[in-house]
Amino acid sequence: MKIIASNFKTNHTRKSTKKFIEDINKLLTNENIKNDVFIFPTSTSLDNFNTPNNLTVGVQNAYYVQNGSFTGEIGTEQLDEFGIKTILIGHSERRHILGESQKEITLKYNYYKALGYKIIYCVGEPLEIKEKGISDTLGYIQKQFDGIDLNYENVTVAYEPVWAIGTGLVPSVEDIATIHKKLKKKFTQPLLYGGSVKTTNIEEILSIPNVDGTLIGSGSWNVEDFKKMIEITSKAGEK
Ligand code: PGA
Repeated sequence: MKIIASNFKTNHTRKSTKKFIEDINKLLTNENIKNDVFIFPTSTSLDNFNTPNNLTVGVQNAYYVQNGSFTGEIGTEQLDEFGIKTILIGHSERRHILGESQKEITLKYNYYKALGYKIIYCVGEPLEIKEKGISDTLGYIQKQFDGIDLNYENVTVAYEPVWAIGTGLVPSVEDIATIHKKLKKKFTQPLLYGGSVKTTNIEEILSIPNVDGTLIGSGSWNVEDFKKMIEITSKAGEK
């Protein structure tokens, strides 16, 4: 069954997040949808949500500590309060805008792996690398696996080309197929595609071999759109 995940980034309030999650709960229950659905709200919107087993609320980021003096960060003490056991690591905005290095990402990965967290681990190349061709692209992505244990049973990888995130640009079906095929040779865990996924292209993207699901930002923030995409995903899972 295909997986679908929504990354809120810096969007939605505590109030609108609660309503969003309630709406998704209703859809999953009423339509008896069994696909794994993930929602990553802002840290300020975390709560003890009552969700069906297949709907998981995760965190977009946390530091690799239980608690301490790390201004602006949260640790597992704060996550435990809400039973959060799922984290996004290596997202391109954290790598390229917030300046997280591969070394820090590895420390974070190992910390959360040791605690058994579900990790959605993101990789992807910037435009100047894509333009150099497939072997440079694969070489770049390979470096993003430095220090990362891909045999960890609770990791899901997301391939998200940086130039496709939030831009409306999507790689060709052939490009996604090629990269996913190559990446899937490295591990058996699920591999998601992310980058400008929307209601209008999700069906085609899910039909590409080795695409086990999608990680969606901007296209998922409207709950009606996300509901539509969950329904399309549940049908894709039947095939
Ligand atoms: P986008 O973001 O869907 O807005 O392109 C995807 C992501 O960053 O996960």
